[in-house]
Amino acid sequence: MGTLSFLARRFVAGETLEEGIDAVRTLNVGGVMATLDVLGENVSNEREVEAAAASYIELLRAIGRAKIQSNVSLKLTQMGLDIGEDYCLGVMRRIVAEAMQHNNFVRIDMEGSAYTERTLHLFQELYSKFPNGVGIVLQSYLHRSEEDARKMALLRAPVRVCKGAYKEPTSIAYQDMDDIRRSYRSMVEVLLKGGSHVGIATHDERLLRWVVEWTGKENVPRSQFEFQMLYGLRRKRARELASQGYAVRSYVPFGTHWLPYFVRRLRERKENIFFVLKSLVTD
Ligand code: FDA
Repeated sequence: MGTLSFLARRFVAGETLEEGIDAVRTLNVGGVMATLDVLGENVSNEREVEAAAASYIELLRAIGRAKIQSNVSLKLTQMGLDIGEDYCLGVMRRIVAEAMQHNNFVRIDMEGSAYTERTLHLFQELYSKFPNGVGIVLQSYLHRSEEDARKMALLRAPVRVCKGAYKEPTSIAYQDMDDIRRSYRSMVEVLLKGGSHVGIATHDERLLRWVVEWTGKENVPRSQFEFQMLYGLRRKRARELASQGYAVRSYVPFGTHWLPYFVRRLRERKENIFFVLKSLVTD
């Protein structure tokens, strides 16, 4: 690996499938499940989409063979959304059908706001055919997301709730952290009360504590939600929640197209830059 990829290692499990699987094995030993992500986004030709789809099919088979606790996460722009919605739906049907054969599950990540509507639409198409095989993500920084959460709760669709990682304008997205947290809490409440399975994707201690407290107070079954964190972040906290009997899942990206993912992580929090620099000395 070159110097930059060496730095990215703080957040990326490696470049190969084997490295991804190995990272999941280690997490599983600590009681933490995983979702594996083959890095890639905004693929613009069918040849590249086919390659990305094949890598997910191979990944689903490898997870089955390795008997590890992991589902998969992917981005629709990696599966041809920029080429066409029908085309992307066809590719996704193949991947979700493969997942179902292995009793596994595909989480569709949410990307920038240019894709929100199409992603939700395509998800609903897939969900109507594979209700146990596919889930979606909603971002609490978007003004629209509380309404989307209500719709998803009515469908009892599995939803990962996150704050959102893309730069969005004030006309459509909250910029203030208190607003983003308020929206986050309201979405989680609506979804859990509606019966959806919820992925609580955050490293934010205030939200983590609120979820523990609120779900306890409301007697929400622990089987109805799981904490989700990104590979390399808050590892101790993840293991601690797992040891307290909560379901915890780590998002484990691997592959050669790690740059946009890595840049989003660095932009998110200045401490992440510190982690990376520290790993140069200590890891
Ligand atoms: P944020 O970075 O806002 O931090 C808030 C506070 O939390 C900090 O001030 C600190 O107190 C605490 N904290 C955070 N990190 C810490 C650390 N490492 N150690 C100690 N304290 C820490 N985005 C998207 O747009 N689409 C998607 O599909 C996904 N998918 C996704 C999956 C998973 C599993 C996760 C965890 C996240 C995503 N995201 C995402 C990214 C998400 O939208 C968001 O950008 C990041 O999670 C950062 O927001 P947080 O809520 O984690 O904390």
